[in-house]
Amino acid sequence: MDRIVVSGGAELHGEVTVSGSKNSTLALMAAALLPEDETVLHNVPKLRDVDTMLEILRALGAKADWRDSRTICIDASTVNNPEAPYDLVRQMRASFLVLGPLMARFGTARVSEPGGCAIGVRPIDQHLKGLEALGAKIQHDHGYVEAATSELRGGRVAFDMNTVNGTQNVMMAATQARGETLIENAAREPEVVELAEVLLAMGADIDGAGTDRIRIRGVGPLHGIDHAVSGDRIEAGTMLAAAIATRGDVMVRGVDPLQLESTLEKLREVGCQIEVGIDCVRAKMEGPIAPVRAVTAPFPGYPTDMQAQLMAVLTLASGSSVVTERVFENRFMHVPELQRMGADIALSGRSAHIRGVPGLMGAPVMATDLRASAGLIIAALAAEGDTVVNRVYHIDRGYERIEAKLRGLGADIRREN
Ligand code: EPZ
Repeated sequence: MDRIVVSGGAELHGEVTVSGSKNSTLALMAAALLPEDETVLHNVPKLRDVDTMLEILRALGAKADWRDSRTICIDASTVNNPEAPYDLVRQMRASFLVLGPLMARFGTARVSEPGGCAIGVRPIDQHLKGLEALGAKIQHDHGYVEAATSELRGGRVAFDMNTVNGTQNVMMAATQARGETLIENAAREPEVVELAEVLLAMGADIDGAGTDRIRIRGVGPLHGIDHAVSGDRIEAGTMLAAAIATRGDVMVRGVDPLQLESTLEKLREVGCQIEVGIDCVRAKMEGPIAPVRAVTAPFPGYPTDMQAQLMAVLTLASGSSVVTERVFENRFMHVPELQRMGADIALSGRSAHIRGVPGLMGAPVMATDLRASAGLIIAALAAEGDTVVNRVYHIDRGYERIEAKLRGLGADIRREN
């Protein structure tokens, strides 16, 4: 079992380039099931979740593998088994994204229910509501969702809440439904917009992606494409937060700042000088960390995936902050670990009240989920002394070689097994 050891105190300086977006990559890999030929994805991050999704695509019958360290090829012409098995789906909830494409291709699918995870129950009722609106009959059979229809037909899908993967699943299914589908209360995340761009390039007919109303008109068979995945906006935000916590000066390259506007606004509120370029963001932190209020919300609100990272910064603020988590019901598991490092945080309902302290102390801590782990690393970089972060596999799910990237910025960080 790997662990990461951080000796805190170094200011981060220099440049870092983020990897391709994990969440975009996973949706695009599912979309590659739609055409009966080859799709090539470039700038793919080398992550455990990507390898898990490759295994799932192969289990469905596709040829799917790395062509080189950044490129994957998926040939879905040989897909012949519309069943995604429990032992793979349980490893990664995003596997549920194969449901829509399988319905589009075959009109039938059997996908294991993803089940909950550390940050919440994470139901899939909206995914199923969307597919039923397209004519699918849904059954639950021993932990599997079985969906079937003689013909997918366009319909109106009004989601009860913003769901990124729910919007993506319905979009993919609707590309092959007869007639027009209207998704209302659609998620507006950049990962939805990038999926729409790829589906359009494959020959789909979609408009409105990025707004809360997306219209999809069914078309004939789609064709494979070549696409470079956009930079990971959450990894970029994580690096910026690390620069702030260590009062450094870091240029993050390979990201579109327009995908991070609410995060950059919050980091400016914290007192950081933020400069943006076409595909880069610079964070220079000199003064005290100002306390702020933050509430997580669907895009374009402040991202839930950046909540733990902001909290780590705010533990060192010159006053009291409040961070409210409105997207997931259990996304404060980094709090007890931060408290062990000397942070002064009180939880009440969906809010964390953070009283800034002059400094944190290194300590052995436990990673519990992907973004909580990132928050702990940020705290460790600023803490006095050594921090050992255990269960590092959580971090490896969403950050490619995080210790190498941070070491490149001057951090004293190493991986041990
Ligand atoms: C995506 O998850 C991301 N994952 C998550 O990133 C991200 O936190 C989340 O969107 C919100 O931005 C991927 O794209 C692979 P949701 P998703 O459906 O689509 C509830 C990370 O760290 N809900 O938008 O599964 C749900 O419980 C990960 O990279 C239902 O109730 O999230 C949650 O409270 C973590 N019923 C809220 O909606 C449903 O059918 C938003 O979830 C679907 C969702």
